[in-house]
Amino acid sequence: MISLLCLSLLATVAALTVTIPSAPGSGNAPSISRSLVSLSIEQDRWPEWAGTSSENRFFLNTLENLNAITGAPPDIRIGANSEDHTQFSAQVEAPQYADVIFPAPTAIVPYPEALNITVGNAYYQLADHLPKGTHVIWGVNFGSFNLTAAVLEAKAIMNAFYSPPFKAAGVTLDYLEIGNEADLYANNGLRARSYSSSQYVQEWTTFASNISDAVKLNSTGTRFLVGSFAGSSSKTTGFSPQAIYSEGVLDSVPGSLIAAFSEHHYSGSFCTGNGGLLQDLMTKSTIRSNLTIYMTDIIATHEENLDYILGETNSYACHGAPGVSNTAGAALWALDYALFASQIGISKVFFHVGIGFKYSLIQPVALSRSTLDGSPLSSPLPPHIQPPYYAALIACELRGSEKDARIAEIKVDDARIAGYAAFENDRLVRAVFINSQAFFEVNNASRTSVHLDLAFSGTRPRKMTIKRLAIGYADDVSGLTWGGQTYETVDGRVGGKLQLESNLVDYGVDIAETEVVLLSFT
Ligand SMILES: *[C@@H]1O[C@H](CO)[C@@H](O)[C@H](O)[C@H]1NC(C)=O
Ligand SMILES: *[C@@H]1O[C@H](CO)[C@@H](O)[C@H](O)[C@H]1NC(C)=O
Ligand SMILES: *[C@@H]1O[C@H](CO)[C@@H](O)[C@H](O)[C@H]1NC(C)=O
Ligand SMILES: *[C@@H]1O[C@H](CO)[C@@H](O)[C@H](O)[C@H]1NC(C)=O
Ligand SMILES: *[C@@H]1O[C@H](CO)[C@@H](O)[C@H](O)[C@H]1NC(C)=O
Ligand SMILES: *[C@@H]1O[C@H](CO)[C@@H](O)[C@H](O)[C@H]1NC(C)=O
Repeated sequence: MISLLCLSLLATVAALTVTIPSAPGSGNAPSISRSLVSLSIEQDRWPEWAGTSSENRFFLNTLENLNAITGAPPDIRIGANSEDHTQFSAQVEAPQYADVIFPAPTAIVPYPEALNITVGNAYYQLADHLPKGTHVIWGVNFGSFNLTAAVLEAKAIMNAFYSPPFKAAGVTLDYLEIGNEADLYANNGLRARSYSSSQYVQEWTTFASNISDAVKLNSTGTRFLVGSFAGSSSKTTGFSPQAIYSEGVLDSVPGSLIAAFSEHHYSGSFCTGNGGLLQDLMTKSTIRSNLTIYMTDIIATHEENLDYILGETNSYACHGAPGVSNTAGAALWALDYALFASQIGISKVFFHVGIGFKYSLIQPVALSRSTLDGSPLSSPLPPHIQPPYYAALIACELRGSEKDARIAEIKVDDARIAGYAAFENDRLVRAVFINSQAFFEVNNASRTSVHLDLAFSGTRPRKMTIKRLAIGYADDVSGLTWGGQTYETVDGRVGGKLQLESNLVDYGVDIAETEVVLLSFT
Protein backbone atom coordinates (compact mmCIF):
# COMPACT_ATOMS: atom_id res chain seq x y z
CA MET A 1 0.00 0.00 0.00
CA ILE A 2 2.64 2.43 1.12
CA SER A 3 4.90 1.85 -1.83
CA LEU A 4 1.93 2.23 -4.20
CA LEU A 5 1.03 5.52 -2.56
CA CYS A 6 4.62 6.69 -2.87
CA LEU A 7 4.65 5.73 -6.53
CA SER A 8 1.52 7.70 -7.24
CA LEU A 9 2.88 10.72 -5.38
CA LEU A 10 6.08 10.43 -7.34
CA ALA A 11 4.05 10.39 -10.53
CA THR A 12 2.37 13.68 -9.73
CA VAL A 13 5.62 15.50 -8.94
CA ALA A 14 7.82 13.82 -11.55
CA ALA A 15 10.68 16.04 -12.64
CA LEU A 16 12.58 15.78 -15.84
CA THR A 17 15.61 17.72 -17.03
CA VAL A 18 15.48 18.60 -20.70
CA THR A 19 18.42 20.04 -22.58
CA ILE A 20 17.42 22.61 -25.14
CA PRO A 21 19.91 23.25 -27.93
CA SER A 22 21.06 26.87 -27.80
CA ALA A 23 21.97 26.96 -31.48
CA PRO A 24 20.64 25.12 -34.53
CA GLY A 25 23.87 23.14 -34.92
CA SER A 26 24.96 21.64 -38.18
CA GLY A 27 22.21 19.87 -40.04
CA ASN A 28 20.02 19.16 -37.00
CA ALA A 29 17.58 22.01 -37.38
CA PRO A 30 15.92 22.16 -40.80
CA SER A 31 14.61 25.41 -42.24
CA ILE A 32 10.87 25.56 -41.82
CA SER A 33 8.43 26.83 -44.43
CA ARG A 34 5.99 29.49 -43.29
CA SER A 35 3.31 27.14 -44.55
CA LEU A 36 4.54 23.94 -42.90
CA VAL A 37 0.92 23.44 -41.83
CA SER A 38 -1.15 23.61 -44.99
CA LEU A 39 -4.62 22.42 -46.01
CA SER A 40 -5.99 19.96 -48.55
CA ILE A 41 -9.62 20.67 -49.46
CA GLU A 42 -12.09 18.10 -50.80
CA GLN A 43 -13.07 19.81 -54.03
CA ASP A 44 -16.74 18.78 -54.35
CA ARG A 45 -17.79 21.64 -52.03
CA TRP A 46 -15.00 24.09 -52.96
CA PRO A 47 -17.42 26.97 -53.78
CA GLU A 48 -18.67 26.92 -50.18
CA TRP A 49 -15.13 27.11 -48.79
CA ALA A 50 -14.24 30.04 -51.03
CA GLY A 51 -17.60 31.75 -50.95
CA THR A 52 -19.33 32.59 -54.23
CA SER A 53 -20.95 35.99 -54.79
CA SER A 54 -19.08 37.12 -51.70
CA GLU A 55 -16.07 35.63 -49.93
CA ASN A 56 -16.53 33.13 -47.12
CA ARG A 57 -15.22 35.51 -44.45
CA PHE A 58 -15.20 32.89 -41.71
CA PHE A 59 -12.91 30.53 -43.61
CA LEU A 60 -10.68 33.34 -44.87
CA ASN A 61 -10.32 34.73 -41.34
CA THR A 62 -9.04 31.37 -40.12
CA LEU A 63 -6.39 31.51 -42.85
CA GLU A 64 -5.56 35.16 -42.14
CA ASN A 65 -4.97 34.32 -38.47
CA LEU A 66 -2.12 32.03 -39.55
CA ASN A 67 -0.87 34.51 -42.15
CA ALA A 68 -0.59 37.17 -39.45
CA ILE A 69 1.69 34.90 -37.38
CA THR A 70 4.16 33.65 -40.01
CA GLY A 71 3.78 36.17 -42.80
CA ALA A 72 2.29 33.62 -45.20
CA PRO A 73 -1.08 31.90 -45.36
CA PRO A 74 -1.18 28.09 -45.52
CA ASP A 75 -0.82 26.54 -48.96
CA ILE A 76 -4.07 25.13 -50.28
CA ARG A 77 -4.39 21.90 -52.25
CA ILE A 78 -7.78 21.47 -53.88
CA GLY A 79 -8.76 18.04 -55.18
CA ALA A 80 -8.70 14.64 -53.44
CA ASN A 81 -11.26 11.87 -53.95
CA SER A 82 -13.73 14.08 -55.83
CA GLU A 83 -10.91 15.29 -58.14
CA ASP A 84 -11.24 11.94 -59.92
CA HIS A 85 -15.03 12.36 -60.24
CA THR A 86 -14.91 15.84 -61.78
CA GLN A 87 -15.92 16.64 -65.35
CA PHE A 88 -15.62 19.99 -67.07
CA SER A 89 -18.37 21.85 -68.87
CA ALA A 90 -18.09 25.48 -69.95
CA GLN A 91 -21.90 25.62 -69.61
CA VAL A 92 -21.68 25.46 -65.81
CA GLU A 93 -21.33 29.09 -64.87
CA ALA A 94 -22.00 31.40 -61.93
CA PRO A 95 -24.17 31.41 -59.90
CA GLN A 96 -24.04 27.63 -60.15
CA TYR A 97 -20.24 26.99 -60.19
CA ALA A 98 -20.65 23.20 -59.95
CA ASP A 99 -23.28 20.52 -60.56
CA VAL A 100 -22.79 17.99 -57.81
CA ILE A 101 -24.40 14.63 -57.11
CA PHE A 102 -23.90 13.27 -53.60
CA PRO A 103 -24.68 9.77 -52.34
CA ALA A 104 -27.00 9.48 -49.34
CA PRO A 105 -25.36 10.24 -45.99
CA THR A 106 -24.84 7.37 -43.55
CA ALA A 107 -24.15 7.29 -39.81
CA ILE A 108 -20.51 6.36 -40.45
CA VAL A 109 -20.01 8.91 -43.25
CA PRO A 110 -22.51 11.72 -42.62
CA TYR A 111 -20.93 14.01 -45.25
CA PRO A 112 -19.91 11.73 -48.14
CA GLU A 113 -17.86 12.91 -51.13
CA ALA A 114 -19.67 13.56 -54.39
CA LEU A 115 -20.23 10.76 -56.89
CA ASN A 116 -20.13 13.18 -59.80
CA ILE A 117 -19.19 16.81 -60.09
CA THR A 118 -19.25 18.98 -63.19
CA VAL A 119 -17.50 22.34 -63.03
CA GLY A 120 -16.99 25.33 -65.31
CA ASN A 121 -14.57 28.23 -65.46
CA ALA A 122 -16.22 30.20 -62.64
CA TYR A 123 -15.56 27.36 -60.20
CA TYR A 124 -11.80 27.78 -60.53
CA GLN A 125 -11.98 31.57 -60.59
CA LEU A 126 -13.25 31.54 -56.99
CA ALA A 127 -9.69 30.87 -55.82
CA ASP A 128 -8.92 34.59 -56.11
CA HIS A 129 -10.82 34.91 -52.80
CA LEU A 130 -7.88 33.27 -51.03
CA PRO A 131 -5.54 35.47 -48.96
CA LYS A 132 -2.84 37.38 -50.78
CA GLY A 133 0.27 35.24 -51.02
CA THR A 134 -1.54 31.88 -51.08
CA HIS A 135 0.16 29.08 -53.05
CA VAL A 136 -2.21 26.54 -54.56
CA ILE A 137 -2.06 22.97 -55.86
CA TRP A 138 -5.01 21.88 -58.00
CA GLY A 139 -5.81 18.39 -59.18
CA VAL A 140 -7.31 17.28 -62.48
CA ASN A 141 -9.23 14.08 -63.18
CA PHE A 142 -7.06 11.10 -64.08
CA GLY A 143 -9.33 8.44 -62.61
CA SER A 144 -11.89 8.68 -65.46
CA PHE A 145 -9.08 8.26 -68.01
CA ASN A 146 -10.59 10.98 -70.20
CA LEU A 147 -7.74 13.06 -71.59
CA THR A 148 -10.09 15.66 -73.08
CA ALA A 149 -11.64 16.30 -69.66
CA ALA A 150 -8.25 16.58 -67.94
CA VAL A 151 -6.97 19.02 -70.56
CA LEU A 152 -10.14 21.14 -70.32
CA GLU A 153 -9.79 21.29 -66.53
CA ALA A 154 -6.10 22.22 -66.73
CA LYS A 155 -6.89 24.97 -69.25
CA ALA A 156 -9.62 26.41 -67.05
CA ILE A 157 -7.33 26.33 -64.01
CA MET A 158 -4.46 28.03 -65.84
CA ASN A 159 -6.77 30.62 -67.43
CA ALA A 160 -7.99 31.53 -63.97
CA PHE A 161 -4.60 31.71 -62.24
CA TYR A 162 -2.91 33.68 -65.00
CA SER A 163 -5.73 36.24 -65.28
CA PRO A 164 -5.46 39.81 -63.96
CA PRO A 165 -7.70 39.23 -60.87
CA PHE A 166 -5.35 36.49 -59.64
CA LYS A 167 -2.27 38.59 -60.22
CA ALA A 168 -3.95 41.39 -58.26
CA ALA A 169 -4.97 38.92 -55.53
CA GLY A 170 -1.42 37.52 -55.29
CA VAL A 171 -2.70 33.93 -55.50
CA THR A 172 -0.38 31.61 -57.42
CA LEU A 173 -0.62 28.07 -58.74
CA ASP A 174 2.50 26.12 -57.78
CA TYR A 175 1.48 22.72 -59.10
CA LEU A 176 -0.99 20.84 -61.22
CA GLU A 177 -1.70 17.39 -59.78
CA ILE A 178 -2.82 14.63 -62.16
CA GLY A 179 -5.11 12.24 -60.29
CA ASN A 180 -5.64 11.20 -56.70
CA GLU A 181 -4.29 7.97 -55.20
CA ALA A 182 -3.74 6.09 -58.45
CA ASP A 183 -2.23 3.25 -56.42
CA LEU A 184 -5.82 2.44 -55.36
CA TYR A 185 -7.28 2.48 -58.90
CA ALA A 186 -6.88 -1.31 -59.26
CA ASN A 187 -9.12 -1.77 -56.20
CA ASN A 188 -11.72 0.97 -56.70
CA GLY A 189 -12.63 0.15 -60.28
CA LEU A 190 -10.96 3.13 -61.97
CA ARG A 191 -8.49 0.77 -63.72
CA ALA A 192 -7.98 -2.94 -64.34
CA ARG A 193 -7.11 -5.19 -61.40
CA SER A 194 -3.60 -5.54 -62.83
CA TYR A 195 -2.88 -1.78 -62.84
CA SER A 196 0.82 -1.21 -62.12
CA SER A 197 3.17 1.67 -61.46
CA SER A 198 4.69 1.31 -64.95
CA GLN A 199 1.22 1.75 -66.49
CA TYR A 200 0.74 4.75 -64.22
CA VAL A 201 4.01 6.24 -65.47
CA GLN A 202 3.03 5.69 -69.09
CA GLU A 203 -0.46 7.20 -68.64
CA TRP A 204 0.81 10.05 -66.47
CA THR A 205 3.36 10.94 -69.16
CA THR A 206 0.65 11.02 -71.85
CA PHE A 207 -1.67 13.19 -69.76
CA ALA A 208 1.15 15.50 -68.67
CA SER A 209 2.38 15.91 -72.27
CA ASN A 210 -1.02 16.95 -73.53
CA ILE A 211 -1.69 19.21 -70.56
CA SER A 212 1.73 20.80 -70.75
CA ASP A 213 1.35 21.44 -74.49
CA ALA A 214 -2.15 22.82 -74.06
CA VAL A 215 -1.30 25.25 -71.27
CA LYS A 216 2.38 25.83 -72.09
CA LEU A 217 4.07 24.95 -68.82
CA ASN A 218 7.74 25.85 -68.32
CA SER A 219 10.28 25.46 -65.56
CA THR A 220 9.65 28.91 -64.05
CA GLY A 221 5.85 28.94 -63.71
CA THR A 222 3.33 26.32 -62.57
CA ARG A 223 4.85 22.83 -62.57
CA PHE A 224 3.68 19.30 -61.87
CA LEU A 225 3.73 17.30 -58.71
CA VAL A 226 3.60 13.55 -59.02
CA GLY A 227 2.50 10.59 -56.92
CA SER A 228 -0.35 11.56 -54.58
CA PHE A 229 -0.36 7.87 -53.66
CA ALA A 230 -2.35 6.55 -50.70
CA GLY A 231 0.57 4.43 -49.54
CA SER A 232 4.03 3.40 -50.57
CA SER A 233 5.86 0.12 -51.10
CA SER A 234 9.13 2.05 -50.60
CA LYS A 235 10.61 -0.31 -53.19
CA THR A 236 11.07 -0.32 -56.95
CA THR A 237 8.17 -2.79 -57.20
CA GLY A 238 4.64 -1.68 -56.33
CA PHE A 239 3.67 1.99 -56.10
CA SER A 240 6.31 4.25 -54.59
CA PRO A 241 8.47 7.21 -55.56
CA GLN A 242 11.40 4.82 -56.09
CA ALA A 243 9.31 2.74 -58.52
CA ILE A 244 8.12 5.62 -60.67
CA TYR A 245 11.55 7.28 -60.75
CA SER A 246 13.14 4.01 -61.88
CA GLU A 247 10.38 3.59 -64.48
CA GLY A 248 11.32 6.95 -65.97
CA VAL A 249 8.56 9.35 -64.86
CA LEU A 250 11.15 12.15 -64.56
CA ASP A 251 12.82 11.45 -67.89
CA SER A 252 10.16 12.61 -70.35
CA VAL A 253 9.68 16.22 -71.48
CA PRO A 254 6.75 16.82 -69.05
CA GLY A 255 8.60 14.75 -66.44
CA SER A 256 11.28 17.43 -66.40
CA LEU A 257 8.56 19.77 -65.07
CA ILE A 258 7.95 17.66 -61.97
CA ALA A 259 9.13 19.55 -58.89
CA ALA A 260 7.64 17.59 -56.00
CA PHE A 261 6.46 14.19 -54.87
CA SER A 262 3.23 14.06 -52.87
CA GLU A 263 2.47 11.26 -50.41
CA HIS A 264 -0.86 10.74 -48.66
CA HIS A 265 -1.05 9.25 -45.20
CA TYR A 266 -3.60 8.40 -42.52
CA SER A 267 -2.66 6.79 -39.21
CA GLY A 268 -5.26 4.13 -39.72
CA SER A 269 -8.82 3.39 -40.69
CA PHE A 270 -11.21 3.22 -37.77
CA CYS A 271 -14.79 4.21 -38.21
CA THR A 272 -15.68 4.24 -34.51
CA GLY A 273 -13.56 5.83 -31.83
CA ASN A 274 -12.73 5.19 -28.19
CA GLY A 275 -10.35 6.49 -25.53
CA GLY A 276 -7.71 3.86 -26.28
CA LEU A 277 -7.74 4.86 -29.89
CA LEU A 278 -7.32 8.53 -28.98
CA GLN A 279 -4.32 7.71 -26.77
CA ASP A 280 -2.80 5.63 -29.62
CA LEU A 281 -3.17 8.57 -31.97
CA MET A 282 -1.53 10.97 -29.52
CA THR A 283 1.32 8.68 -28.56
CA LYS A 284 4.80 9.98 -29.32
CA SER A 285 6.17 6.68 -30.62
CA THR A 286 3.24 5.96 -32.99
CA ILE A 287 3.42 9.50 -34.37
CA ARG A 288 7.08 8.90 -35.17
CA SER A 289 6.59 5.41 -36.61
CA ASN A 290 3.76 6.68 -38.84
CA LEU A 291 6.21 9.11 -40.45
CA THR A 292 9.58 7.38 -40.40
CA ILE A 293 8.19 4.65 -42.72
CA TYR A 294 8.74 7.23 -45.48
CA MET A 295 12.43 7.91 -44.74
CA THR A 296 13.76 5.96 -47.74
CA ASP A 297 11.14 7.55 -50.02
CA ILE A 298 12.13 11.02 -48.82
CA ILE A 299 15.83 10.34 -49.41
CA ALA A 300 15.12 8.95 -52.89
CA THR A 301 13.03 12.04 -53.68
CA HIS A 302 15.62 14.52 -52.43
CA GLU A 303 18.25 12.69 -54.50
CA GLU A 304 16.18 13.67 -57.55
CA ASN A 305 16.17 17.29 -56.33
CA LEU A 306 12.44 17.19 -55.75
CA ASP A 307 10.48 18.50 -52.79
CA TYR A 308 8.65 15.89 -50.67
CA ILE A 309 5.28 16.81 -49.18
CA LEU A 310 2.46 15.08 -47.37
CA GLY A 311 -0.10 16.36 -49.86
CA GLU A 312 -3.07 14.86 -48.02
CA THR A 313 -3.09 13.59 -44.48
CA ASN A 314 -5.10 13.42 -41.30
CA SER A 315 -5.80 11.10 -38.41
CA TYR A 316 -8.16 8.26 -39.38
CA ALA A 317 -10.09 7.29 -42.51
CA CYS A 318 -13.93 7.58 -42.66
CA HIS A 319 -13.26 11.35 -42.43
CA GLY A 320 -12.06 10.75 -38.88
CA ALA A 321 -13.11 8.55 -35.97
CA PRO A 322 -15.81 10.15 -33.76
CA GLY A 323 -14.58 11.09 -30.29
CA VAL A 324 -11.00 10.89 -31.56
CA SER A 325 -10.30 12.96 -34.69
CA ASN A 326 -12.54 15.86 -33.62
CA THR A 327 -11.08 16.26 -30.13
CA ALA A 328 -8.49 18.20 -28.18
CA GLY A 329 -6.24 15.13 -28.15
CA ALA A 330 -6.18 15.27 -31.95
CA ALA A 331 -4.83 18.83 -31.69
CA LEU A 332 -1.82 17.50 -29.74
CA TRP A 333 -1.42 14.74 -32.35
CA ALA A 334 -1.54 17.22 -35.24
CA LEU A 335 1.04 19.51 -33.64
CA ASP A 336 3.57 16.78 -32.88
CA TYR A 337 2.89 15.15 -36.27
CA ALA A 338 3.53 18.30 -38.32
CA LEU A 339 6.61 19.28 -36.31
CA PHE A 340 8.10 15.79 -36.41
CA ALA A 341 7.44 15.60 -40.17
CA SER A 342 9.57 18.73 -40.59
CA GLN A 343 12.49 16.93 -38.93
CA ILE A 344 12.69 14.12 -41.50
CA GLY A 345 12.60 16.12 -44.71
CA ILE A 346 8.88 16.66 -45.24
CA SER A 347 8.54 20.31 -46.25
CA LYS A 348 4.76 20.73 -45.91
CA VAL A 349 1.92 18.84 -44.28
CA PHE A 350 -1.47 19.32 -45.95
CA PHE A 351 -4.16 18.39 -43.41
CA HIS A 352 -7.19 17.16 -45.33
CA VAL A 353 -10.46 18.97 -44.66
CA GLY A 354 -14.00 18.67 -45.96
CA ILE A 355 -17.32 20.14 -44.94
CA GLY A 356 -18.69 18.00 -42.10
CA PHE A 357 -15.57 15.82 -41.91
CA LYS A 358 -14.84 14.89 -38.29
CA TYR A 359 -11.12 15.63 -38.61
CA SER A 360 -11.48 19.05 -40.29
CA LEU A 361 -9.55 21.86 -38.62
CA ILE A 362 -12.30 24.18 -39.80
CA GLN A 363 -16.04 23.84 -40.50
CA PRO A 364 -16.47 26.78 -42.89
CA VAL A 365 -20.28 26.72 -43.28
CA ALA A 366 -23.30 25.95 -41.11
CA LEU A 367 -24.02 22.24 -40.68
CA SER A 368 -27.50 20.78 -40.49
CA ARG A 369 -26.62 17.24 -39.39
CA SER A 370 -24.24 15.79 -36.87
CA THR A 371 -20.68 15.17 -38.09
CA LEU A 372 -20.53 12.21 -35.67
CA ASP A 373 -23.58 10.15 -36.66
CA GLY A 374 -25.45 12.08 -39.34
CA SER A 375 -28.51 12.74 -37.14
CA PRO A 376 -30.39 15.97 -37.92
CA LEU A 377 -29.50 18.92 -35.67
CA SER A 378 -32.35 20.84 -34.07
CA SER A 379 -30.76 24.08 -35.23
CA PRO A 380 -27.89 24.53 -37.70
CA LEU A 381 -24.41 24.59 -36.21
CA PRO A 382 -22.76 27.85 -37.37
CA PRO A 383 -19.26 27.89 -38.94
CA HIS A 384 -16.62 27.05 -36.35
CA ILE A 385 -13.10 25.81 -35.82
CA GLN A 386 -12.42 22.35 -34.39
CA PRO A 387 -9.69 21.57 -31.84
CA PRO A 388 -6.97 20.58 -34.37
CA TYR A 389 -7.01 24.20 -35.61
CA TYR A 390 -5.01 25.04 -32.47
CA ALA A 391 -2.20 22.83 -33.78
CA ALA A 392 -1.89 25.10 -36.81
CA LEU A 393 -1.78 28.21 -34.61
CA ILE A 394 0.85 26.77 -32.28
CA ALA A 395 3.09 25.45 -35.07
CA CYS A 396 2.95 28.92 -36.66
CA GLU A 397 3.74 30.68 -33.37
CA LEU A 398 6.67 28.35 -32.74
CA ARG A 399 8.07 29.10 -36.20
CA GLY A 400 7.40 32.84 -36.20
CA SER A 401 7.67 35.22 -39.13
CA GLU A 402 11.40 35.50 -39.80
CA LYS A 403 12.68 34.34 -43.17
CA ASP A 404 15.46 32.30 -41.54
CA ALA A 405 13.52 30.05 -39.17
CA ARG A 406 14.68 26.62 -38.06
CA ILE A 407 13.22 24.01 -35.76
CA ALA A 408 15.02 21.16 -34.00
CA GLU A 409 13.43 18.35 -32.04
CA ILE A 410 14.51 18.38 -28.39
CA LYS A 411 15.43 14.91 -27.22
CA VAL A 412 13.15 14.28 -24.22
CA ASP A 413 13.70 11.07 -22.29
CA ASP A 414 10.00 10.47 -21.67
CA ALA A 415 7.53 8.42 -23.73
CA ARG A 416 4.80 11.05 -23.29
CA ILE A 417 6.64 14.35 -23.71
CA ALA A 418 7.81 15.76 -27.02
CA GLY A 419 9.66 19.03 -27.49
CA TYR A 420 10.92 21.30 -30.26
CA ALA A 421 13.19 24.35 -30.22
CA ALA A 422 12.85 27.24 -32.68
CA PHE A 423 15.67 29.44 -33.96
CA GLU A 424 15.56 32.75 -35.79
CA ASN A 425 18.77 33.74 -37.53
CA ASP A 426 20.55 31.00 -35.55
CA ARG A 427 19.33 32.34 -32.21
CA LEU A 428 17.17 30.23 -29.87
CA VAL A 429 13.86 32.05 -29.48
CA ARG A 430 11.17 29.59 -28.43
CA ALA A 431 10.47 26.02 -27.39
CA VAL A 432 7.29 23.99 -27.30
CA PHE A 433 6.52 20.93 -25.19
CA ILE A 434 3.61 18.54 -25.69
CA ASN A 435 2.40 16.17 -22.95
CA SER A 436 0.52 13.47 -24.85
CA GLN A 437 -0.74 11.50 -21.86
CA ALA A 438 -4.49 11.45 -22.58
CA PHE A 439 -6.48 12.70 -19.61
CA PHE A 440 -10.13 11.64 -19.52
CA GLU A 441 -13.04 12.55 -17.28
CA VAL A 442 -13.91 8.89 -16.80
CA ASN A 443 -10.63 8.28 -14.94
CA ASN A 444 -11.20 11.40 -12.86
CA ALA A 445 -8.00 10.82 -10.92
CA SER A 446 -6.15 14.00 -10.09
CA ARG A 447 -4.32 15.13 -13.15
CA THR A 448 -0.58 14.60 -13.02
CA SER A 449 2.03 17.07 -14.19
CA VAL A 450 5.65 16.73 -15.10
CA HIS A 451 8.04 19.41 -13.95
CA LEU A 452 10.53 20.28 -16.69
CA ASP A 453 13.90 21.60 -15.50
CA LEU A 454 15.47 23.45 -18.37
CA ALA A 455 19.11 22.96 -19.29
CA PHE A 456 20.78 24.52 -22.34
CA SER A 457 23.60 23.30 -24.53
CA GLY A 458 25.03 26.84 -24.62
CA THR A 459 24.00 30.28 -23.40
CA ARG A 460 21.21 30.09 -20.85
CA PRO A 461 18.38 32.59 -21.33
CA ARG A 462 17.26 34.26 -18.10
CA LYS A 463 13.54 34.77 -18.49
CA MET A 464 10.66 33.32 -20.41
CA THR A 465 6.98 33.75 -21.02
CA ILE A 466 4.79 30.66 -20.91
CA LYS A 467 1.72 30.23 -23.12
CA ARG A 468 -0.55 27.24 -22.49
CA LEU A 469 -3.03 25.31 -24.58
CA ALA A 470 -5.50 24.64 -21.80
CA ILE A 471 -7.68 21.56 -22.28
CA GLY A 472 -10.33 20.10 -19.98
CA TYR A 473 -10.24 16.48 -21.13
CA ALA A 474 -8.48 14.83 -24.07
CA ASP A 475 -11.83 14.04 -25.73
CA ASP A 476 -13.25 17.56 -25.38
CA VAL A 477 -14.50 18.91 -28.69
CA SER A 478 -14.61 22.57 -27.63
CA GLY A 479 -13.63 24.94 -24.86
CA LEU A 480 -9.88 24.85 -25.45
CA THR A 481 -8.01 28.08 -24.78
CA TRP A 482 -4.64 29.17 -26.12
CA GLY A 483 -2.98 31.71 -23.85
CA GLY A 484 -6.42 32.25 -22.32
CA GLN A 485 -7.91 33.09 -25.72
CA THR A 486 -10.38 31.28 -27.92
CA TYR A 487 -10.91 30.96 -31.65
CA GLU A 488 -14.42 29.55 -31.12
CA THR A 489 -15.89 32.85 -32.21
CA VAL A 490 -18.57 33.92 -34.65
CA ASP A 491 -16.03 35.25 -37.16
CA GLY A 492 -13.08 32.89 -36.53
CA ARG A 493 -10.97 35.72 -35.14
CA VAL A 494 -9.37 35.51 -31.70
CA GLY A 495 -11.51 36.37 -28.67
CA GLY A 496 -10.70 37.10 -25.05
CA LYS A 497 -7.71 38.55 -23.29
CA LEU A 498 -4.21 37.14 -23.79
CA GLN A 499 -2.86 35.51 -20.63
CA LEU A 500 0.82 34.65 -20.42
CA GLU A 501 2.90 33.66 -17.42
CA SER A 502 6.36 35.22 -16.96
CA ASN A 503 9.01 33.37 -15.09
CA LEU A 504 12.73 32.87 -14.61
CA VAL A 505 14.05 30.07 -16.77
CA ASP A 506 15.68 28.66 -13.61
CA TYR A 507 12.24 27.79 -12.22
CA GLY A 508 11.41 25.50 -15.14
CA VAL A 509 7.82 24.76 -16.09
CA ASP A 510 5.08 22.28 -15.18
CA ILE A 511 3.21 20.55 -17.97
CA ALA A 512 0.01 18.67 -17.21
CA GLU A 513 -1.37 15.59 -18.93
CA THR A 514 -2.89 16.65 -22.28
CA GLU A 515 -1.32 20.08 -22.40
CA VAL A 516 0.99 22.13 -24.62
CA VAL A 517 3.32 24.87 -23.36
CA LEU A 518 5.10 27.37 -25.57
CA LEU A 519 8.10 29.06 -23.98
CA SER A 520 9.40 32.33 -25.43
CA PHE A 521 12.86 33.21 -24.17
CA THR A 522 13.96 36.75 -23.51
C1 LIG B 1 -21.64 10.16 -63.21
O1 LIG B 1 -20.85 10.36 -64.35
C2 LIG B 1 -20.66 9.18 -65.10
C3 LIG B 1 -19.63 9.46 -66.17
O2 LIG B 1 -19.74 10.76 -66.64
C4 LIG B 1 -21.99 8.74 -65.67
O3 LIG B 1 -21.82 7.55 -66.41
C5 LIG B 1 -22.91 8.48 -64.49
O4 LIG B 1 -24.20 8.18 -64.99
C6 LIG B 1 -23.01 9.67 -63.60
N1 LIG B 1 -23.73 9.31 -62.42
C7 LIG B 1 -24.75 10.02 -61.97
C8 LIG B 1 -25.38 9.52 -60.69
O5 LIG B 1 -25.14 11.00 -62.55
C1 LIG C 1 -3.02 15.10 -77.22
O1 LIG C 1 -1.84 15.37 -77.97
C2 LIG C 1 -1.84 14.77 -79.22
C3 LIG C 1 -0.47 14.98 -79.82
O2 LIG C 1 -0.15 16.35 -79.82
C4 LIG C 1 -2.96 15.36 -80.06
O3 LIG C 1 -2.99 14.75 -81.32
C5 LIG C 1 -4.28 15.12 -79.36
O4 LIG C 1 -5.32 15.79 -80.04
C6 LIG C 1 -4.23 15.65 -77.94
N1 LIG C 1 -5.44 15.26 -77.25
C7 LIG C 1 -6.11 16.08 -76.48
C8 LIG C 1 -7.34 15.53 -75.87
O5 LIG C 1 -5.76 17.22 -76.24
C1 LIG D 1 -14.63 13.01 -72.02
O1 LIG D 1 -14.76 14.34 -71.60
C2 LIG D 1 -15.35 15.16 -72.57
C3 LIG D 1 -15.28 16.59 -72.05
O2 LIG D 1 -15.84 16.69 -70.79
C4 LIG D 1 -16.78 14.71 -72.84
O3 LIG D 1 -17.35 15.52 -73.83
C5 LIG D 1 -16.74 13.27 -73.30
O4 LIG D 1 -18.06 12.79 -73.42
C6 LIG D 1 -16.00 12.42 -72.33
N1 LIG D 1 -15.83 11.11 -72.85
C7 LIG D 1 -16.29 10.04 -72.23
C8 LIG D 1 -16.02 8.73 -72.90
O5 LIG D 1 -16.87 10.10 -71.15
C1 LIG E 1 6.19 30.20 -67.89
O1 LIG E 1 4.84 29.80 -67.74
C2 LIG E 1 4.04 30.71 -67.03
C3 LIG E 1 2.70 30.05 -66.88
O2 LIG E 1 2.88 28.81 -66.24
C4 LIG E 1 3.99 32.04 -67.77
O3 LIG E 1 3.24 32.95 -67.05
C5 LIG E 1 5.40 32.55 -67.95
O4 LIG E 1 5.38 33.71 -68.74
C6 LIG E 1 6.26 31.50 -68.62
N1 LIG E 1 7.65 31.95 -68.67
C7 LIG E 1 8.40 31.82 -69.73
C8 LIG E 1 9.80 32.27 -69.59
O5 LIG E 1 7.97 31.35 -70.77
C1 LIG F 1 0.14 4.83 -36.84
O1 LIG F 1 -0.53 5.22 -35.66
C2 LIG F 1 -1.58 4.36 -35.26
C3 LIG F 1 -2.18 4.96 -34.03
O2 LIG F 1 -2.77 6.15 -34.37
C4 LIG F 1 -1.06 2.98 -35.01
O3 LIG F 1 -2.12 2.13 -34.70
C5 LIG F 1 -0.35 2.48 -36.24
O4 LIG F 1 0.23 1.22 -35.99
C6 LIG F 1 0.74 3.46 -36.65
N1 LIG F 1 1.34 3.03 -37.91
C7 LIG F 1 2.64 2.92 -38.07
C8 LIG F 1 3.09 2.52 -39.42
O5 LIG F 1 3.43 3.15 -37.18
C1 LIG G 1 -14.55 14.24 -10.69
O1 LIG G 1 -13.93 14.75 -9.51
C2 LIG G 1 -14.40 16.01 -9.13
C3 LIG G 1 -13.54 16.54 -7.97
O2 LIG G 1 -13.13 15.50 -7.16
C4 LIG G 1 -15.88 15.90 -8.77
O3 LIG G 1 -16.38 17.17 -8.41
C5 LIG G 1 -16.63 15.40 -9.99
O4 LIG G 1 -18.00 15.22 -9.69
C6 LIG G 1 -16.04 14.10 -10.51
N1 LIG G 1 -16.66 13.76 -11.79
C7 LIG G 1 -17.03 12.52 -12.11
C8 LIG G 1 -17.62 12.35 -13.46
O5 LIG G 1 -16.92 11.61 -11.34
